[in-house]
Amino acid sequence: MALTGLFLSVFLITHLAGNLQLLDMSPEGQQKFNEYARFMTTFPLVKLVSYVLYFSILFHAFDGFLLAIQNRKARPVKYAYEKPGANSTWYARQMALLGTLILVFIVMHMKHFWYEMHFGELPMTVDKSGEPLKDLYTVVAAAFTQLWYVALYVVMMGVLAFHLLHGFQSAFQSLGLNHPRYTPIIKNVGVFFAVVVPIFFALIPVWMFINR
Ligand code: HEM
Repeated sequence: MALTGLFLSVFLITHLAGNLQLLDMSPEGQQKFNEYARFMTTFPLVKLVSYVLYFSILFHAFDGFLLAIQNRKARPVKYAYEKPGANSTWYARQMALLGTLILVFIVMHMKHFWYEMHFGELPMTVDKSGEPLKDLYTVVAAAFTQLWYVALYVVMMGVLAFHLLHGFQSAFQSLGLNHPRYTPIIKNVGVFFAVVVPIFFALIPVWMFINR
């Protein structure tokens, strides 16, 4: 879980970096994003990494599901006196729920953008050399003209933030990477990552909605 979780975190950084191009809504910006999307869906090495990504998402979700069941079985009878807040946060105890919400989000998100890009009938435009180019930008921009859809993305980025807040540092703990000097640094980097990445992701639909 730790290794796939860290791999998915690296994916989030690259995905965010690519998607920040959506903030440039000029015709040149739109063309750049469409050319980037074409590269990401056709370049063989990127395609290969994408298969590792799909596998990691499924493995991480399945393993998390098994872990949640194991935890439940380990304590079939509840403690008579229970004060879980004393030694863990609410989001650490709700990782399975947060993860399930994120999985549902990813399925919906991929159906709307990824499936359309690969198998849908997309509007077409042209690249720099006049070659036909799938206009994924218009599909994304159209999705984010709907307030409810923007709100859903913003809420889901909040869910992602709490999942990462516990998951990032927990991954290092699971790998046994504990060190009196480095663990506090890892925790701080984790908090920074868990807050900043979802904020920038959420900024994209909000920005596109405001400038629609
Ligand atoms: C909120 C801002 C986001 C935007 C605008 C966005 C946009 C997109 C677009 C346009 C695609 C299709 C591109 C392609 O097929 O190459 C895509 C694919 C994908 N997105 Fe996002 N995304 C966002 C956030 C996220 C988040 C937070 C996650 C994960 C929790 C995520 C997971 C994925 C995955 C797994 C794919 C498939 C990638 C692949 O085939 O390599 N996205 N996204």
